[in-house]
Amino acid sequence: MLINLNVNEQVRQHNIKRCREKGIILPTFAQMAHPDTIPESIRKKLTEVGLWDVNPLNLFRITWHNEPKEKGGRFGGVNYIEIPRQITGTRARIFALVGKYFPTGAHKVGATYGCLAPALATGNFDAEHQQAVWPSTGNYCRGGAYNSALLGCDSIAILPAEMSQERFNWLKSVAGEVIATPGCESNVKEIFDKCHELDRERGTHIVIFNQFEKFENYLWHYAITAEAILEVLRSRGIKPENVRGYASSTGSGGTLAAGDRLKEVYPGLKIAAGEALQCPTLLRNGFGGHRIEGIGDKHVPWIHNVKNTDMICSIDDEDCLRIYRLFNEPAGLEYLKKAGVAQADIDNLKLFGISGIGNMLSAIKMAKYYEMEEDDVVFTILTDSSVMYTSRLAEQTAMHGEFTPADAAMAHSACLMHQGIDNALELTYYERLRVHNLKYYTWVEQQGKTYEELNRQWYDRDYWKEIPADLGRIDTLIEDFNKEVGLV
Ligand SMILES: Cc1ncc(COP(=O)(O)O)c(C=O)c1O
Repeated sequence: MLINLNVNEQVRQHNIKRCREKGIILPTFAQMAHPDTIPESIRKKLTEVGLWDVNPLNLFRITWHNEPKEKGGRFGGVNYIEIPRQITGTRARIFALVGKYFPTGAHKVGATYGCLAPALATGNFDAEHQQAVWPSTGNYCRGGAYNSALLGCDSIAILPAEMSQERFNWLKSVAGEVIATPGCESNVKEIFDKCHELDRERGTHIVIFNQFEKFENYLWHYAITAEAILEVLRSRGIKPENVRGYASSTGSGGTLAAGDRLKEVYPGLKIAAGEALQCPTLLRNGFGGHRIEGIGDKHVPWIHNVKNTDMICSIDDEDCLRIYRLFNEPAGLEYLKKAGVAQADIDNLKLFGISGIGNMLSAIKMAKYYEMEEDDVVFTILTDSSVMYTSRLAEQTAMHGEFTPADAAMAHSACLMHQGIDNALELTYYERLRVHNLKYYTWVEQQGKTYEELNRQWYDRDYWKEIPADLGRIDTLIEDFNKEVGLV
């Protein structure tokens, strides 16, 4: 069993009591995918609640369908954009889901809820007596701390010390405890070390929800993110043969998992895994620090289905930061206007965080590599938005001076229009195996996974199918839990 659904009745009863006392109802995966199935009584109450409020009703806003409003929004269509060709420079169309309109401003709150809900409904986490630990390179621990606060349980957020000040400031207001581990984005090993240390010191007082190994994270994107993309593709009338690509960075490997579901529906689709060129673990077994916040690496996440990955795109973090300035500095926006970008598309540029820009660049490389045509579509994801990184703008100005019209022209031309297919690798069978084999060093040598399971991931055709097979059971557990809480 890849997801632990064994029931601990005693702890489950604690959780039921707690939810009853605090007025908490847990949404099911089906409701997150299709919020129109959420009872009207709950939808109505949401009209009084702000998108980021620490209010348990906001668990129902863990969906791609939130109305883009700061307060009182209900549900509408999927939040997504089509990125115009004046920005992508591709013949193919590039679409992106928008993560900004989740509570906390990033879709990672979904992956954390995906981990927490089965643990509550089975009693594998005791909301009354245990602390939830959220190891992360940023948004995952923000999401985890937020969900813990909604449930009124104690949490510990772990993230690298060099992450943006915005993240630390907000976390301090929500998480019980914030732990900064040494290094930057790509220092995931130090995060794992801290988890082991906490485990030794605090034992059963904590439960570690390690996104890099928890298949609930995989499942949330397989079921919810992919469903949102499918809905967009169908509503836009895209022909199946034109659904050509899905590009996502590998942070924990969660978002990438949506590709596995998409490929079931569109077998011709290719999946591209993005990473930072400054830390080319997938491309070259490489290492290094980089500035694309949220995509931590120097390892291959346990939940990354490498055998199903078709391509690696290594993205230069300097391109991401130059485009981030282009999309946010007045001279950049002015330039884009002159380059023919419509005002509505310019208004959408605030929806891109730095990793979203990286994902767009992976999608561009993919579209160019496969010589995709006008009707072809590549889908990608904007995990969070520009507001998370405003301190980086000031840092860039301090380092390079004011962003001028000439900087804008260079960024647009060099980083977007002339983004090439360099550092993009289409994977052969043995190149996939080479990436898969890297898991051995992190997961078997360091993190206690078995050699047998590692081999199952590669050789057992049913291994990855076991995860979505649990979906129905998880929703039943959540429904039964809610019934006993008695508030529905
Ligand atoms: C801003 C940002 N982008 C991308 C990712 C990577 O997403 P995933 O962990 O689902 O691979 C994260 C993960 O925390 C993130 O915070």
